Formats: sequence, structure tokens, C-alpha cells
Amino acid sequence: MILPSQRHLFGMPRDVCYLNAAYMTPQTIRMEEVGDWSLRLKSRPWELAPADFFTEVEKLRSVFARLIDASADDIAITPSASYGLAIAAKNLKPAKDSRILLLEEQFPSNVYPWMRVAEQSGAKLEFVPMPSDYDMTGAVLDRIETLGDQIALAALPHHYWSNGVKVDLAAVGRACRKYGIRLALDLTQSLGAVPFSVRDVDPDYITAAAYKWLFGPYIVSYFYAAPRNQADLPIEENWINRAGSEDFAGLVHYQKEYLPGARRFDVGERANFALVPMARAALEQILDWGVVNIAETIAGHSRAIGEIFRRAGFEIIPGDKRGPHLMGALSKDPLPEDFLVKLQEHGVYLSVRGRSVRIAPHVYNDAEDIERLARAMTFL
Ligand SMILES: Cc1ncc(COP(=O)(O)O)c(C=O)c1O
Repeated sequence: MILPSQRHLFGMPRDVCYLNAAYMTPQTIRMEEVGDWSLRLKSRPWELAPADFFTEVEKLRSVFARLIDASADDIAITPSASYGLAIAAKNLKPAKDSRILLLEEQFPSNVYPWMRVAEQSGAKLEFVPMPSDYDMTGAVLDRIETLGDQIALAALPHHYWSNGVKVDLAAVGRACRKYGIRLALDLTQSLGAVPFSVRDVDPDYITAAAYKWLFGPYIVSYFYAAPRNQADLPIEENWINRAGSEDFAGLVHYQKEYLPGARRFDVGERANFALVPMARAALEQILDWGVVNIAETIAGHSRAIGEIFRRAGFEIIPGDKRGPHLMGALSKDPLPEDFLVKLQEHGVYLSVRGRSVRIAPHVYNDAEDIERLARAMTFL
């Protein structure tokens, strides 16, 4: 279902055409209200009971789990996408000369941890370049078929961060299982805007920062560990992640056991009273819109915007090779230095990554925004 514009749920000025969700989504008015309340919780600490260190965060785990078809037990709350990848990296023990599969020019958070693992283990990084026809799935599958069980881990996104080119993760998941390859996913640039289910892909780990397509606050991120990896080591040995931590009076009865499932991977102070309720409000809004509906709605905006860029001489990555939400428009010539500034003067907000203009609309965009963009492009 195509959603009518949801702009009324946001405090966006009418003269702002914001097409930069891949950079950061705006908060909803509801999230601001929740935040006004949650920020004040610590003004009255006598009202914060030990149970409050657990209840909100458990609700957040559950709502995120629904989004990816997992169980709340499989979810940890972390502060950044990088933190989740650090957990995955800490637990990968690749053989010398085995390979770690990455995409060329993948986002650095999903490259640096593997550089370190490679340095320490003697494994080699294997970068898959972007094919000229943008068939990234075909390129990844080819490389997996060629190297087979020499690959210890594939560390991939669902959609390429700078232009939305997609990787069919269900197909890649099948190929990884065939050769016993671990699969770590950074879904920061897709989850919330593109349907995804762990049942279709069966990854080992997922990380996703909240502040982009998940509409959450900064310094909240989600981490999924498949049940088979829930005995892995966490980054921290935090008191609250140990069994029995609800009993504040008994904390020095040191425990060998962790809390069940992926809770052992939670960051310290994950109760995060100010931000956790806001993050939950954001995820509930996404579930309320429905990810399939979000994707269909944004795809319509992307088509209309793509047409404007095509008329202005840009090459648009074909719809079947990219996400509905994130679209690269490639300029044949280097972009003028003041490209973004000029657009901003006309109220249009976008990003540029290399020669690619990164276009990332959302459900708050409407026909007036598209007209504003079309007008702004005539002034370039
Ligand atoms: C693909 C991708 N992963 C992760 C991040 C952010 O990483 P972190 O949460 O570690 O700051 C970004 C930010 O632009 C991103 O585009």
C-alpha cells in the first residue's frame, strides 16, 4: 500500500525538501514528546526502581526482533553499528590465508574490524568490485563459488551505502551455508526501509545503527546474534549482563553465567533511560507504517526524483539493481563544487558521495517536495 504523506507526524518546515534519510532521519513529533518525558526521568532518581533497568530495554529488544522476524533473546542493544561488528570480529578466528569477503568501497565500519582480524590471523581481505551492470549479487555469488570454503566470513550490507545497489541476501545466505561461510551484515543503510527477515537469510550477525532508516536517536544501535553464536564472547564483562543482575543487593555474588541469549552482548548502561523509550517509539512507528508499505511509498518518490535527475543528464542506477529507498544519480562530469550549497539555497537537502548524488527520500516527502527539487535543479 502506498502511504499518504506522513509529513504531519514531523516538525519539518514546509520549505525544506529533505532527501537525505541515508544521512540521518528526523525525529517524529511523538519521539520528541517521549524524549521530553524520558530525559526528565533522571531528575527523579528515587522513582527509578531496579526493575526499570530491565523493563524498557526488554520492550525495545522485542520490538526490534519483530522487525527482523527474530526472537527478543537474539537481540542486544549496542551504541553503534561498529560495536556490533566488533563483537563479530572478536569471535572470528579465521585460519591463516583464509578469506574475508567484502565489497569494494564498503562503508568503513564494516572494513576496519576485518583489517584488524586479517592482520592478527593472517587471513586475507577479498574485495568484490562493483560490476559495470551493478549486478552486485552476481559478483558476490561468483566469488563465493570460486573461493568456496576458503572464505571464513562474508561481511556485507544489504544495500550499498553510497548508491543503494543491492545484494540479494537470501541468495548469498544460501551460498554461505553451502560452504560453511559465516555471514555478518551491516543493515544500517536498509533496515526499516527494505523488508528483511532472518528466516530468509540466516545470518550469523546483524548490526544496524538506529539513527538512519530506523528513525532512532544517535548512540542506539541493534545487534542480532544467531542462536548458534550466543555463546560467543562479549566486548565487555558488564555487571548487568550477568545472571541474577536484577538483584541489586546480591551483585557481589559473582556469577559465571550471563543473562540468556544475546543479552551478554549488550553495551554497559544499556538501560539508557533517556534514549531507549525514544528508540522504541521510533520502531513502533515503523511497524505501524509497515516496512513493505514504506518501501513501496519511497520507491514511488525515487522514481519521480530519478526522472528529474535523468532529464538533468545524470545516469540513474536501474530500479532492479538498487533499493527502493536509496538511489545513486551519477554525474558524467565532476559535480560543481557548490552543487549541494546551491540546492540547499532552494531548500533541497541531499548528499554527494564521490561522483554520485545520494538520494534518500522517505514517507514525509510529498509532491510539493518533488516540485521544489525540480525547480531547484533548473537553477544549477
Ligand atoms: C553502512 C553504514 N554502517 C554504519 C554506519 C555508522 O556506523 P556507526 O554506528 O558505527 O557510527 C553508517 C553511517 O553512515 C553507514 O552508512
